[in-house]
Amino acid sequence: MKKLSPSMLAADFGILREQIGLIEEAGAQYLHIDVMDGVFVPNISFGAPVYKSLRKYSNMTFDVHLMITEPERYVEDFVKAGADIVNFHVEACENPEDSIEKIKSLGVRAGITIKPNTPVSAIEDYLRDVSLVLVMTVEPGFGGQKLIPECLDKITELKKIREEKGYSYEIEVDGGVGLGNIRQVMESGVDVVVAGSAVMGAADIKKAAKDMLDIIREYD
Ligand code: DX5
Ligand code: ZN
Repeated sequence: MKKLSPSMLAADFGILREQIGLIEEAGAQYLHIDVMDGVFVPNISFGAPVYKSLRKYSNMTFDVHLMITEPERYVEDFVKAGADIVNFHVEACENPEDSIEKIKSLGVRAGITIKPNTPVSAIEDYLRDVSLVLVMTVEPGFGGQKLIPECLDKITELKKIREEKGYSYEIEVDGGVGLGNIRQVMESGVDVVVAGSAVMGAADIKKAAKDMLDIIREYD
């Protein structure tokens, strides 16, 4: 099943619980949670306590995107706070296999993420062991940027590798996706679509999520 993962980054944090409820009612399967440390990316967002406080109000899959250096140091905190998937950047750690093992040993799904300039070959060795591959279509750090279309080729490449090798990861796209380009994005073969400003930043969040999901489902 193809999925929508609205990004909390674009939410109004004063009414976060209410807004998360709207996307869940609309049918979003994942909640994308962008954790930034101000070092790996030039911005600071929030840490584990923020989504921990939402865990009891939501049944969505918590899809945590770590934009932090040395992610392995904090994996346990993120899992304890309620993450179902922990995605870390291959560019952010020395031994990705150790991070993957650590995440899996804590009983949750491991995801590996690549920035726009990082080729698929940089993660080829880890594809067998991850449940999700996150392909960034903007430079990580901020919402509301324009999608870099060339990055979509990596999704098609990852789909081909999955078929050839019999791997099972989901492929997720993150950055600059909205109603204006969602079809182009789906054509790449992606499984999970992150949308920040296009959904959580919309005037009618529930409608925006439903409109995106209607199109996403056409590609099931
Ligand atoms: C950017 C984050 C994204 C961001 C997407 O570093 O990883 O998840 O929230 O926001 P939009 O959809 O507005 O590009
Ligand atoms: Zn993200």
